[in-house]
Formats: sequence, structure tokens, C-alpha cells
Amino acid sequence: MSSKSTIPNTLQQKFQELPTPSLFKSIAINGLILFVFYEFFFHSDNRPLDLSLSFAKSSDCRNSTTNSPTNLSHIGFIVIGSLNSWKHRKAYTESWWRPNVTRGYVFLDKEPTQEFLPWPSTSPPYQINYDVTKLRPYPKIVSSARMVDSILHMYRVGYKGLRWLIMCDDDTLFFVDNLVEVLQKYDHTKYIYVGGNSESIKPNARCSFDMGFGGAGYALSYPLGEALSKKLHDCIERYSWYLSDHLAQSCLADIGVSPNLEKGFHQIDLRNDISGLLSSHPQSPLLSLHHFDVIDPLFPSKDRYESIQHLMKAAKFDQSRMLQQTICYQRETNWSFSVSWGYSTHIYESIIPRSILRKPLETFRPWDRISRPPHFMFNTRWPTNNSCETPHVFFFKSVEYTPDNQVLTTYVRSSPRNLPPCSATGSHSADPISRIQVFSPSGTRKRYEVIECCDVEYEVETNVAGVKMRSCMKDEVIA
Ligand SMILES: *[C@@H]1O[C@H](CO)[C@@H](O)[C@H](O)[C@H]1NC(C)=O
Ligand SMILES: *[C@@H]1O[C@H](CO)[C@@H](O)[C@H](O)[C@H]1NC(C)=O
Ligand SMILES: *[C@@H]1O[C@H](CO)[C@@H](O)[C@H](O)[C@H]1NC(C)=O
Ligand SMILES: *[C@@H]1O[C@H](CO)[C@@H](O)[C@H](O)[C@H]1NC(C)=O
Ligand SMILES: *[C@@H]1O[C@H](CO)[C@@H](O)[C@H](O)[C@H]1NC(C)=O
Repeated sequence: MSSKSTIPNTLQQKFQELPTPSLFKSIAINGLILFVFYEFFFHSDNRPLDLSLSFAKSSDCRNSTTNSPTNLSHIGFIVIGSLNSWKHRKAYTESWWRPNVTRGYVFLDKEPTQEFLPWPSTSPPYQINYDVTKLRPYPKIVSSARMVDSILHMYRVGYKGLRWLIMCDDDTLFFVDNLVEVLQKYDHTKYIYVGGNSESIKPNARCSFDMGFGGAGYALSYPLGEALSKKLHDCIERYSWYLSDHLAQSCLADIGVSPNLEKGFHQIDLRNDISGLLSSHPQSPLLSLHHFDVIDPLFPSKDRYESIQHLMKAAKFDQSRMLQQTICYQRETNWSFSVSWGYSTHIYESIIPRSILRKPLETFRPWDRISRPPHFMFNTRWPTNNSCETPHVFFFKSVEYTPDNQVLTTYVRSSPRNLPPCSATGSHSADPISRIQVFSPSGTRKRYEVIECCDVEYEVETNVAGVKMRSCMKDEVIA
């Protein structure tokens, strides 16, 4: 959930600027909101929210094992969904959910109807949020109210041994092994908030540059979630118009907690073809992807669902290398290879340093259709028709183990480049190459703090090129 509309803010400003009759109206509306909330928290007879009970139950969960390394069993997922969207988004969630391993729930707005039953064990178990229909006239409150209800539910259940709560949407895709690795860096016994910005400047400017966006998913340490839920009543009164992720950010700021921004969370506030970004992923483990219904399918020859299943095939072999960019050169032909593991490989017919290739090709559009550049939170390269700067593009095709126990990912050309060879570097055309084979170590995760290097193996006039991943040598220069 991201805060997309500025209307409520302008509305509020209007109320402040206008003379008394409108002010009355504003007071009346705010009064109504407070009334509805009073009803919601204190008079709900279907599920009264008893805070004291919930915390009594949870407080014995964090002891003795607090020093062991964080693993998946310490993470509780709160997937906020709705029955309407679940029909087609279930596939997104199920692609990363590990039945009987990942813990948590998908929170729905109403009881599943017959067509959803029996509830499959491949989906997260579901919970129904407090009946928010009476909040309907205020859609933004619905989102916050459901977040509050869902967080409180996790504490009511009193899951044993939880260290982190993850808030996300039903169209968020997680890479949970990487999430565990990143959370291991932080002390879960302290107040810690971990999340990611929007890729587009505008949504950050509207909400906050210091915010974990909800669609990308964000993490709250268990004690922080507990502290936050105790303050949420007041927060909703202060920030009644905010969507849930913005509300959480504001409440957390008011108790002195800022997010640790991790570049692997992806809200994907982008449109159209995001292959440029996925081919030059920031130097950070891939944690999440989002907004699949807004962007083009990730792979040009597949639909949205097939694309995700396909991407997850690579992830099953090695999450640590997913989308990690590795660059090396074939000096005999003056070519640069840029591998985005498990997704794509590019060949450039010139030697381009890493400092350039790490900038995404701007294949995508910004979130706001009408906005002036700069649009993005990162530098980009503008696509051109210059033969020396335009890559030959290959997409992930298959993954397997080799007999000598390496992981072999194969990438195939998606379409001909249709440009003459780059003459400035000797006119060595890469047109004949149809397939690239990338060999990487199996069984050892790539360490998140370092990049890897590679070597190209290519025999002139063949149609296959090989790339072998290896550790970088000390002070190796990639240029
Ligand atoms: C918590 O840990 C302490 C020492 O580490 C131990 O004495 C105590 O019994 C533990 N409490 C529970 C509820 O496990
Ligand atoms: C996760 O850590 C807990 C200790 O906190 C341990 O009991 C459990 O076996 C671990 N689970 C896995 C899958 O490693
Ligand atoms: C999860 O566990 C339950 C009970 O232990 C079992 O019936 C079910 O088949 C399991 N689901 C999966 C997908 O493994
Ligand atoms: C490149 O050339 C093609 C065909 O001539 C044209 O359609 C396209 O707009 C050009 N792209 C850029 C970035 O100039
Ligand atoms: C590689 O490119 C340079 C110019 O950047 C050129 O001088 C050199 O001859 C080229 N090498 C080959 C093998 O074509």
C-alpha cells in the first residue's frame, strides 16, 4: 500500500484556510472519524481489541534464544489482501510462501466465499480483519485500521519466538532467504524498522523519503511492533488521512525511530518495462518485488504469472545471486558482458566500465505520468541507437546443476539488435551469439557485502558464450 493521492492533504489545507462554516464541517468530519474509531476499538463486539491480554501472552516469547542467528521461523508475515484481489494475486503470494515453514497470515476484508474453499495449504492461512465496512466512506482509514487490527492479531496469537514482523501486500513477492540474511544484521531486541523507498522521487516527496513503503514490504522488530501498536490509537487521530505505511512511518518518527533503508526492497513505483532496473540491480541482496499488475511482464515472451514462476526457478537454486550484477570483458573482441543472475545478460560491443553499467537503462517510465525530471532515486542511462552503447539482450531461459556441481544458468537472445557493429572498437559484431551460459558456485551463498567478478570464455564464430563467476581479486578493477 503506498500513499498515492494528495487529495486528502489538500482537503485538509482547504479546511484550514476556509472561514467558519467550512471549519464546522471539518470538525464534524473529524468528529465522525473519531466516533468511528471509538466504535472500532472499544465497541466492536465481533472481536474486541484487548491490548493488555495480547501483550501478557507475548512477553515470554523472547528469551534464552535471543542470541541464536535469526532464521525464517523468527519472522511473522502480515500479508494485507482483499477477497477481490486474492483471486488473481494468490499466485503472487504462493510463489514465495513456503507452506508449514513461513509463518503468518494473509489478512482478508471478508470471509472467503465458496469458490475459495477449501483453503489450500499452499496459501498462507487467512484471518479476517475487523469488519471495516462502516469505515468505507473513509478509504484511507480502512487501510490503517486493517494494519492496526492485523498487527494486534499477531500479538494476540502470541506466536512463539517471533523476532520480526513483516508488513506487505498480496502483490508483494519476497525472497525470504535474503530477507533472513539482511535482518541478521540488525538487533531484533532493539527498536528497528527496516524498509525501502519508492524508486520514483514523487511518491517519496509526497509521503516521506524516510519511509519503508508498504508494497515493497517493511520489517518491524518484535519490540518495536509492540510499542507501535500501543501508540496506534493516538497516531490514527493525528494522521487520520494517511495510508497505512505512511501512518506507520509517522508514528515511528514520533517515537524516535527512523527506517534503515535497504536497497533490495522494491516498491516498483515504475511503469512499463522494468528490465533496465532488473538488469542493473543495486549492489544489495534482492528482497522484494511489487506492482506486477502495473508493469509489463518481467520476461518479454511470458505473461505476468509465467514470468514470476520462471524467475522463482532461478531463485530456488540461489537467492543470494538473484539479479546480482557481475561484469567482465572479452578483450579480443572489445566486448563487455553484464550478467544479472537469474534474469538477463547484456553484451556491449565496447569496453564499458562498471561505474557506467551499474546505472540502469531507462526502459521504464516514472510512477506519476505527469512529472518533470529527475524522476528517479537513482541515476539512469538513456537508451540510444548508438551501436557502441546499445546492448544485445538475453533473458534467463533455464537453470541446472552441472556434473561438477556448479550452477549453470542459460540466457537466450530475445530479439535481434538490428544495429550495425560498433566501428570505433573494431566492428566485432555480437549478432551471431544466441545463447550465454553462466557458471556460478553452488551451495555457497554470495556474501552480501562483496560483488563477484567473472571471466568470459568465447571461441570466435561460435554462437555460445560462457561466463564463469569467481571471487574478485584484491583491488581488481572492472573497466
Ligand atoms: C529467561 O532467561 C533467563 C536467563 O537467560 C532464565 O533464567 C529465565 O528462566 C528465562 N525465562 C523464561 C520464561 O524462559
Ligand atoms: C531457528 O532458530 C531456532 C532458535 O531460535 C532454532 O530452535 C530452530 O531450530 C532454527 N530453525 C531452523 C530452520 O534453523
Ligand atoms: C502442512 O502440514 C500439515 C499438517 O502437518 C499437512 O497436512 C500439510 O499437507 C502440509 N502442507 C504442505 C504443503 O506441506
Ligand atoms: C532507434 O531506432 C528505431 C528504428 O529506427 C526507432 O524506432 C527508435 O525510436 C530509436 N530509438 C532511440 C532511442 O533513438
Ligand atoms: C578495441 O578498441 C580499441 C579502441 O577502443 C581499438 O584501438 C582496438 O584496436 C580494438 N581491438 C580490437 C581487437 O579490435
